[in-house]
Amino acid sequence: MMLTDRTAVVTGAANGLGREFAAALAAAGARVAGFDIAGQAETGARAGERFTPYTVDVADPAAVARALTLVAAELGGPHVVVNNAGVYPPIPFEQTSLEDLRRILRVNVEGPFVVTQAALPYLRRAGWGRVVNIASGAVFVGPPDLVAYTASKAALIGFTRSLATLLGPENITVNTIAPGLTRTETAARSTGADGGFERVAAMQRVPRVEEPADLVSTLLYVCDPASGFLTGQTLNVDGGAAFL
Ligand SMILES: NC(=O)c1ccc[n+]([C@@H]2O[C@H](COP(=O)([O-])OP(=O)(O)OC[C@H]3O[C@@H](n4cnc5c(N)ncnc54)[C@H](O)[C@@H]3O)[C@@H](O)[C@H]2O)c1
Repeated sequence: MMLTDRTAVVTGAANGLGREFAAALAAAGARVAGFDIAGQAETGARAGERFTPYTVDVADPAAVARALTLVAAELGGPHVVVNNAGVYPPIPFEQTSLEDLRRILRVNVEGPFVVTQAALPYLRRAGWGRVVNIASGAVFVGPPDLVAYTASKAALIGFTRSLATLLGPENITVNTIAPGLTRTETAARSTGADGGFERVAAMQRVPRVEEPADLVSTLLYVCDPASGFLTGQTLNVDGGAAFL
């Protein structure tokens, strides 16, 4: 149980990748706090008693601060932050309003910024930390219908690198995982619709549809106490799509 006695915050834990990550971290021994605006009952059923849900908008600094105070009191820590909450509405570039752009940046960039900044004093107090940002292979592939989203996820990679420099001396690593198109309900409703999953899978070196479980070993690798020398990196877990 490599994460016994450690607490992980997983944002966007109600669905998709976040649910998978919460269950995997709980199975690795961590106490897991799920931060989501949606109900997390299914995640609780899957992750078991080590999972505690908190209703939090990740881009609301007051709500995040309140939730972290509760996490610290109820679960200890936190020591691990997985910035996974994100939105990826496919919108043609010409029709993307400034409001659309701001809505995407709010969750995908402000969210990780707010949560990480608020969690940092706790990580520092513990003298050990792991920050994991979930970006996207879109940054490398450049899908034409996801211009605003791709820009938001590219920002997360810069965020990762600068924070890694800041926190390297403090025993806190900061890395990014960039998934390819992965079968979640939201992906099926947007980019994966109309045979999108199979079309993307056919372009990968590993020509099958990526599943949330395909990302778990990389998440655990990054969070592993033995991975303290791995920081500032972007790990592309996309079946080899990004280097086509
Ligand atoms: N599924 C894919 O194909 C894919 C590929 C690459 C990257 N990603 C990234 O992985 C992450 C998860 O994707 P997913 O497919 O599991 O999505 P999802 O929609 O299934 O899950 C995202 C979760 O984030 C939550 N959320 C949204 N806004 C929030 C907010 N303001 N505060 C708190 N929670 C909020 C949602 O309620 C939802 O539970 C996202 O960051 C996404 O951009 C997904």
